[in-house]
Amino acid sequence: MKRLDGKVVLITGVAAGIGRATANLFAKEGARIVGADIDEEGGKSIAEKIQAFGGSMTFVKTDVSYEPDIKALFEATSELGGVDILFNNAGIEVAKGLLETTEEDWDRNVNVNLKSVFFCCKYAVQQMKEKGKGVIINNSSVAGLVGSFSPAYSAAKGGIIALTKALATDFGQHNIRVNCICPGAIETPMLERVIEEQGNPSDVRARRLKNYPLGRFGYPDEVAQTALFLASEESTFVTGATIVVDGGFTAK
Ligand SMILES: NC(=O)c1ccc[n+]([C@@H]2O[C@H](COP(=O)([O-])OP(=O)(O)OC[C@H]3O[C@@H](n4cnc5c(N)ncnc54)[C@H](O)[C@@H]3O)[C@@H](O)[C@H]2O)c1
Repeated sequence: MKRLDGKVVLITGVAAGIGRATANLFAKEGARIVGADIDEEGGKSIAEKIQAFGGSMTFVKTDVSYEPDIKALFEATSELGGVDILFNNAGIEVAKGLLETTEEDWDRNVNVNLKSVFFCCKYAVQQMKEKGKGVIINNSSVAGLVGSFSPAYSAAKGGIIALTKALATDFGQHNIRVNCICPGAIETPMLERVIEEQGNPSDVRARRLKNYPLGRFGYPDEVAQTALFLASEESTFVTGATIVVDGGFTAK
């Protein structure tokens, strides 16, 4: 028996990085994946990869900052009998300080990183209430817990932590568990872009690595394994929690 046999799992930001690794891992554990991303080519490529080993994944092109797209996305999970597990993972980096951040930057950041989580939860909870249980996992960041160079991103990620607690409190009575993960720096296309934007990549890496007691950044699969624990029957008494996966970054 696999850990997610037959479960309908919706993953946003499935085309790259942490979302892609999680779709791969969850499909190997028997989940039926509905994957959402704005990147159609990347989304289709992970669906093909999963189907090639006999796993199940449907890709739905979605802009998670646009509610009508989210509504259409949840029609796909409804056709499979309703969503059991939601991983709100899609996100964008806004590597700008307070004085450089425009209103447009702020709106895009909040819409993609926070509004998306709110509305995906809204549609998921409706299907989960009908099933009498469900699991929501939100991907926040250590930037939601401690200071970062990007205050708009921090504000959105901190909002996810507060939203997680609010929903865990509200929907525990329906056996819906809501938790969030705060990764430190993880080796994904997003991290590459952030490092490159800051100048000499090897200097930036070396400087940032000094803040990581384990002496390295994390890998997407290490976040996926934490999401698997939260999605599985091994965490049935865990809700409203904020779990750091950061190589000791916030312990310093
Ligand atoms: N990589 C890190 O160091 C790190 C650290 C902490 C938190 N996180 C968080 O983890 C999550 C995943 O990050 P990642 O590093 O895998 O990023 P990534 O850029 O490698 O992948 C993110 C995916 O989200 C998709 N996406 C972006 N905007 C979208 C939209 N509007 N609608 C649908 N899909 C959209 C992208 O196309 C991409 O496939 C994000 O929420 C990010 O903030 C990442």
